[in-house]
Amino acid sequence: MPAAAQSAPIGAWVFDNPPAYPEITMLQVRRDGDVLRGTLTSRWYGRIEMQHVVLQDRTLHFDLRNINDPTRPTRHWTARFDHKGAVTLSGGIWHSDVTQTGRRGTLADVRTRTFRLARKLPPRASLAPDALAAVPPMGWSSWNKFADKIDAATIRSIADAMVASGLRDAGYLYVNIDDGWQGVRGRDGTLRPNHRFPDMKALADYVHARGLKLGLYSSPGPRTCAGYEGSYGHVEQDARTFAAWGIDYVKYDLCSGEWFYDTAGTVRQAYYAMGAALRATGRPILYSLCEYGRFDVAGWGRAVGGHLWRTTGDITDAYKTMAEIGFDRNPRFTPGGPGGWNDPDMLEVGNGGMSEDEYRTHITLWAMQAAPLIMGHDLRTMSAATKAILENSGVIAIDQDRLGAQGQRVRTVGAIEIWRKPLADGAIALAIFNRGMAAGTIDLLPADMPGTSAGAIKDIFEGEPTTVATRFTVAAHGVRLLRIAPSAPAR
Ligand code: GLA
Repeated sequence: MPAAAQSAPIGAWVFDNPPAYPEITMLQVRRDGDVLRGTLTSRWYGRIEMQHVVLQDRTLHFDLRNINDPTRPTRHWTARFDHKGAVTLSGGIWHSDVTQTGRRGTLADVRTRTFRLARKLPPRASLAPDALAAVPPMGWSSWNKFADKIDAATIRSIADAMVASGLRDAGYLYVNIDDGWQGVRGRDGTLRPNHRFPDMKALADYVHARGLKLGLYSSPGPRTCAGYEGSYGHVEQDARTFAAWGIDYVKYDLCSGEWFYDTAGTVRQAYYAMGAALRATGRPILYSLCEYGRFDVAGWGRAVGGHLWRTTGDITDAYKTMAEIGFDRNPRFTPGGPGGWNDPDMLEVGNGGMSEDEYRTHITLWAMQAAPLIMGHDLRTMSAATKAILENSGVIAIDQDRLGAQGQRVRTVGAIEIWRKPLADGAIALAIFNRGMAAGTIDLLPADMPGTSAGAIKDIFEGEPTTVATRFTVAAHGVRLLRIAPSAPAR
């Protein structure tokens, strides 16, 4: 056995006052033959296995298992053991860094800090389809623009702006409060909103009175991604609370559940638990799964009661991220359809980080793939150009087409990609995207538009019907979106 492993700090080390995030309460090291192994225990994430453990001069170096990409380590950690029996632990999870000092733990310390699932997950079962989400959901969510800097007054004014701007009448229905509304639980465990949301029921009434619907956000973990109270251990109770407030949409984000709901089976069952709990309330509540596309979610999202499921990590207001998600990642999933939709994340249109051409590409990619259209900007101050993109009835009709087909790439020529989506009336939507940095021109071929007559092409963003043109010039990072009527049936 190497000398390093012999003098290793085997056993349990505990932290009495760890920083509240990620609240690491214990470090355990064990010997496995010649190899050192270990775990960290976090109040939020449970037991996290160390990887690449190396002991060097009384300092343990390791990484934490990376759930998103097992081939890449997370950030590097160290635990330095001094001669007086203290340990200094340093490292980071997501965007936070911690340095904390601990001591040797007793058996009793280990017992109180050992992470155990609050409740067993329900046995594997499936929910029957319901009548919700026959077409992709449309609405608005607070996250992309406001993060957790939100309050009831902002939500009310956004609801007002949905109506005043005409966006409600264009089809955007849900007003979703993302992370940041949660407060603490009462003595009976009932979750209360924080002081920025004094009366959730009154807020729901306000939103409903304007012909809109209200959404909320939670997590199967103990904490949400922004550190607020999750539904862990309170799933049924929270579902009943949401229903009693009049909530119409719940986004359920894996967040701190990710290291203990970390297999296909446990993630599915954690999502089933909330799906079944929402269904049991009797209130029609749209259920949005947010586990970043892990474990083939498109294959089981419907069975756990989901109406939409994220296929990606977070979008940002940048062409590069949007294009990677829209062109390359979302199409890899089993196509969605009526009742259950692939969700490449919320829209960034109007947030200022992309050009108008890029935003048109963004909404077109989403519409072609029958993605939910959940806006993410400040509706109260939007420009006419932003409104025009979001309100375009031709784009919305393609997204909301009742056939619910997910369009696909049919041809690539250099930087130009042609995507096609069949529509319920026999027409097709054809999008000509230019992913390049310079304008490009392409001639459509009959094979690009089978079953249609090139004479009846409508150019969605230009507005005017195009006659027989089949040559199109597309701006850099831009798109031409066409609706092509079916050929007249032969007599
Ligand atoms: C995750 C989700 C985002 C958003 C934030 C909130 O990152 O993917 O869409 O909900 O959490 O904290």
